[in-house]
Amino acid sequence: MEHRSTFHPASPILDFCPPTLPALWYLDPSHYARELSSIHSKNWIYVGRENDLPALTLHRVEIAGLNLILVKDDKGIVRCFHNTCRHRGSELCQHQDTKLKAKLITCPYHEWAYDLSGALQKTPHATTAPGFEKSENNLFQAQVKLWNGFIYVCLTNEAPDFALAPDMGIAALDNWPMQDLVTGHRRVKTIHCNWKIFWENYNECLHCPGIHASLCDMVPVYSKGVMSISEIPGWTPEAKINSPLKDGASTWTKSGMPCGPEFSNLTQTQKQAGHLFVTLMPTMYIVAHIDYVRVVSLRPLGPEETELTAEWLFPQETLSAPNFDLANVVDFATTVMLEDGAACELNQRGLRNRRYTGGTLMPQEFDVFNFHQWVRKKLGEPVYAPEKTP
Ligand code: FES
Ligand SMILES: [Fe+2]
Repeated sequence: MEHRSTFHPASPILDFCPPTLPALWYLDPSHYARELSSIHSKNWIYVGRENDLPALTLHRVEIAGLNLILVKDDKGIVRCFHNTCRHRGSELCQHQDTKLKAKLITCPYHEWAYDLSGALQKTPHATTAPGFEKSENNLFQAQVKLWNGFIYVCLTNEAPDFALAPDMGIAALDNWPMQDLVTGHRRVKTIHCNWKIFWENYNECLHCPGIHASLCDMVPVYSKGVMSISEIPGWTPEAKINSPLKDGASTWTKSGMPCGPEFSNLTQTQKQAGHLFVTLMPTMYIVAHIDYVRVVSLRPLGPEETELTAEWLFPQETLSAPNFDLANVVDFATTVMLEDGAACELNQRGLRNRRYTGGTLMPQEFDVFNFHQWVRKKLGEPVYAPEKTP
C-alpha cells in the first residue's frame, strides 16, 4: 500500500484509516428501528416512476415499515397518504394496485369516502353528532416531490430541501430527456444484508479487481481498485483521460455500443464520460448513459434483508425499434449487480461472527467513510475525528 504522501493533495484518498461502524449496527433489530426512524423516515425516499403510476389507481408503497398509498388524480397531481382510515383505522387499499371506480378513496370497512386530495367526503350509514367535523378527519398525508419523472415521498413535515438530495446537484440530469423515458425492464431481488452494506459496497472499488471481471474490462481504471484516476499515486489535477470506458465502447452494454439513438442534448464531456452517477441517499442511485438510464433503488426489509430494484429507462423510440436488443443492455449490469449482491451477502454473513465487533477502512474507502459520517450524523452520534499527527 502506498503511503498517502505519495498522492497529490487534491486526491480524495484519506490520510488516516478510520474505524468502521460497529458490527451491531448491521444486526441489532433495535438499532435497525432507530435507523428507520432517524434516516428513512426523515429523507426523500424514491417510490417509483411517474409514468408507471396510472391515474385514478391506488398504488401501495412501504417506507420505513409504514404502509402508504400513492395516487395520481385526473390532473396528474400525485399524492401520498398513509394507508389507514380515519374512522377506526382500517387499511384503505388492500391490494398492490386498486383501480378506483369513482374519484374517491373508499374504505372497504364502513365505506367512509375521501376525495383524491384526502378530504373526507362521506360517512355513509352513520349519523353524526355535534363535535364531529369532516374537515378534521382527512387522510394523513405525506409529502411528495417529482423530479425528472421520479416520485419521492418524505414522511416528516420537516422534509429536508430536495434540491440538496441529488449528490451531483439538482440540474445534473437536465440534458437527459428524463421525463419522457419509459421503463423497459425491471428486476427485483432480495439480498440478505443490511441496507448499509449495499451502500458501502457501492462506495468503493477496492473489491472491483477481485469480483467484477466484465466491469473492469469496460472501465479499465476499476481494475486498479479505484473509482477514478485521482486516486492513483502520481495523479495531478491536470491529468485527463478522454473516456473512462475501454477503447471502442461508448456505453454500458455487452457490446459497448449504444442500444439506440444517443441523447441529443448531451455535452461533449457528458458523452465522453460514458456514465454519470447521481446518488440520492438513502434509497437510490441513477446511472445516466448516452443512450439509456439505469436506476437502482433499495428498501430495507429488516436488519439483514434489503430489497433491490433495478429499472432500465429508455426513450420509447429505442424500445420500439425492430432490432432493439434488450439483453445486450440488461445482461451487462445484471452480471455486475449479482456479483455485488453476492459480495454484500458474504460481508453480512461474516459480520454475524461475534468475534468481529468492527474493523478499519483503508484510505481508498473515503466515500465509505463519508457515508459512515453521514449515518453517524443522522443518528445524532459523534462523527469520527481523526487524531492529528504532530
Ligand atoms: S374503518 Fe374505515 S370506514 Fe370504518
Ligand atoms: Fe461492485
